[in-house]
Amino acid sequence: MSKPTLSRFLIDQQRMPDSTCPAELRLLIETIARACKVINHAISKGALGDVLGSLDSENVQGEVQKKLDVIANDLLLDANEWGGHLAGMASEEMEAIHPIPNRYPKGEYLLLFDPIDGSSNVDVDLSVGTIFSILRAPEHTSGRDVEEGDFLQPGHCQVAAGYAIYGPQTLMVLTVGTGVYEFTLDAEIGSWRMTDGPLKIPTGRREFAINMARRRQWSPAISQYVEERILGAEGPLGVDYNMRWTASMVADVHRILKRGGVFLYPEDHRNGKAKLRLLYEANPMSMLIEQAGGAATDGANRILDAEPVGLHQRIGVVLGDPQEVAIVSGQLADA
Ligand code: AHG
Ligand code: MN
Ligand code: MN
Ligand code: MN
Repeated sequence: MSKPTLSRFLIDQQRMPDSTCPAELRLLIETIARACKVINHAISKGALGDVLGSLDSENVQGEVQKKLDVIANDLLLDANEWGGHLAGMASEEMEAIHPIPNRYPKGEYLLLFDPIDGSSNVDVDLSVGTIFSILRAPEHTSGRDVEEGDFLQPGHCQVAAGYAIYGPQTLMVLTVGTGVYEFTLDAEIGSWRMTDGPLKIPTGRREFAINMARRRQWSPAISQYVEERILGAEGPLGVDYNMRWTASMVADVHRILKRGGVFLYPEDHRNGKAKLRLLYEANPMSMLIEQAGGAATDGANRILDAEPVGLHQRIGVVLGDPQEVAIVSGQLADA
């Protein structure tokens, strides 16, 4: 049987009894997927398209913006502004929210995105991605513009989440709350075709992902977890572990969805500061991971229950194999 397209998958979802995917949401996801095709095209041009390198600007995160951070941000805004499905958007690359301009009809959803995740990898041709999260606007906002507070909903309120990964293949990994499905871009015909799903995180795989250069900032619990795995067969666990770190959360999370293991970007134990953004990175990835049978905590508590207090709030992230996440999060004795 031929592989169903993303459109076919979404229409089937829409027609399911008790569907979690009404037509408006389906059309919004299709628009995002179309924008990701354009981003993919821009990235693939590389030096030939004058899309590599940095700008002089910094984003609200205090990061130097790559050209592609801004190109992808603008592509997502342009693609999603006029379709009538959204009340507003928010992005890692924009200090303030982006309400839908009055010249366009407004819809009932909010879109939050990390336009290019792993952008330090763009110039060296490693995998990068686009992460997105969809919320319902708290009430139909036809009478007023959306406000920042409308976006500050805990992750368990997300109605859909996903990412595109621009790697050896271009993939879209998506959930509308009914499992996680993978679509591969067939570039010749411009169509996303389902190539895997529902994804289930393999358990018991001995692989972890962490930026070792930050070890002096780890809590004793994180230090112990990593130290025991580095000791491997010569330590208390008696078995070897492997380590991978790509500096693209999309790539690391995708590996975990397909191959198992655990991803850690804990907060700095000394001052409580974290790197990854709750609304654009941690929440959508946590929804995908939970939908695939995994777990996601901030090192102690479920990420999807975190109450956001700011648009660009950061949070510690431990996600993947539920057994490993439980060990790190102090919910299980290390065995
Ligand atoms: P972004 O490129 O959107 O700013 O995100 C980068 C994030 C994430 O993708 C990755 O896991 C992490 O930052 C890498 O951090 P280090 O540079 O500390 O390795
Ligand atoms: Mn960034
Ligand atoms: Mn990112
Ligand atoms: Mn980014």
